[in-house]
Amino acid sequence: MTTPTAVLSATGLFTPPESISNDELVAAFNRYVAAYNTRHAAEIAAGSRAALAESGSEFIEKASGIQSRFVMDKSGILDPDIMRPQLPQRSNDEPSLQAEIGAAAAREALQGAGVDAADIDMVIVANSNMQRPYPAMAVEVQALLGCGGFAYDMNVACSSATFGVQAAADAVANGSATRALVVNAEICSAHLNFRDRDSHFIFGDAATALVVERADLAQPGRGFAIRSTRLWTQFSNNIRNNAGFLNRCEIGNDPLAADKLFVQNGRKVFKEVCPAVGEHIAAHLAACGIDAHKVRRFWLHQANRSMNELISRRVLGRDASAEEAPIILDRYANTSSAGSVIALHLYQDDLKAGDLGVLSSFGAGYSIGSVILEKR
Ligand code: COA
Repeated sequence: MTTPTAVLSATGLFTPPESISNDELVAAFNRYVAAYNTRHAAEIAAGSRAALAESGSEFIEKASGIQSRFVMDKSGILDPDIMRPQLPQRSNDEPSLQAEIGAAAAREALQGAGVDAADIDMVIVANSNMQRPYPAMAVEVQALLGCGGFAYDMNVACSSATFGVQAAADAVANGSATRALVVNAEICSAHLNFRDRDSHFIFGDAATALVVERADLAQPGRGFAIRSTRLWTQFSNNIRNNAGFLNRCEIGNDPLAADKLFVQNGRKVFKEVCPAVGEHIAAHLAACGIDAHKVRRFWLHQANRSMNELISRRVLGRDASAEEAPIILDRYANTSSAGSVIALHLYQDDLKAGDLGVLSSFGAGYSIGSVILEKR
């Protein structure tokens, strides 16, 4: 293995102030279902339209492990007549919402690293969803913080964090940057169909940030050496969102149709992604000559508790303890690219110099990324 040239020196987290419990979400969904079924009672009775089924908190917690989620706007989501976040429109002269929450997480990461914003010369915003196509969200974050150098956006869905870390570590290793910020600013509540029983409970909002810098510039004793990164992708339609700039031009296409939001075949995703992630992490560790049992912590993408349990079992050959593979999705739900970084942010303080950890994210694409970290 080559000497590490990049370190992940600090992390930051922005958590929205409002949270929605399963019971609150289910109550709003079931009010919508009751109104829908009443409105279409005659057709339902005639058999020409299917009645909608209610959602249930018990199912949600059992199927996903999610108990609550943080969101940018609670009242709009819980209003059965609206069922989406209601976000005040901002003028072009105001900071955009996504850049603002990304910058909030970034400020904490910069403070943790002991780095001035002006010393950052690369900013990546890596998300499942970008607020707009251009100018890049990353360039706005760069300006809000007062960073130098260059900035760009990238999107590898839920895997965006680890893909961003590899891009930053490579840039630092090859000399095109010295200090990078990787920001994951996820407003997943805006791409979630809160009228879809199968998925209305899955996502929450949060922003995370990481500082990746050249080892010789980083303050000693902070963060982690980036020992190795590994990425994988394979095309699949099982997690898809068709929103895009061609929607309004495609003949017969409705830009507001349900396929312009998150859609998945959850069962297939579960069955196909878990083994692929388990094998990916095991192969990555083996390639680096690391015994999986020597890894103190797995900061996994946070989509589903059973998925994470299965992945840990595949890597370790046994169940992981709560300390080895911490869960944050119980209170954050799936925050897409931010999830694994939230786990890293909240569960790193007890590690000692030399301890090994794996940051891994996975999702649409399909895509999988892993980063092997060694505590400094
Ligand atoms: N409330 C109550 N019951 C529900 C429900 C809800 N909100 N949604 C579905 N159900 C019912 C279904 O109707 C079905 O009933 P049936 O067995 O009588 O037909 C049953 O629960 C199982 O539904 P299914 O969709 O097969 O559930 P599941 O066990 O696969 O769990 C997910 C659904 C989404 C939690 C799960 O597939 C998953 O987490 N997949 C991983 C994918 C993922 O999270 N991806 C995100 C991007 S990485």
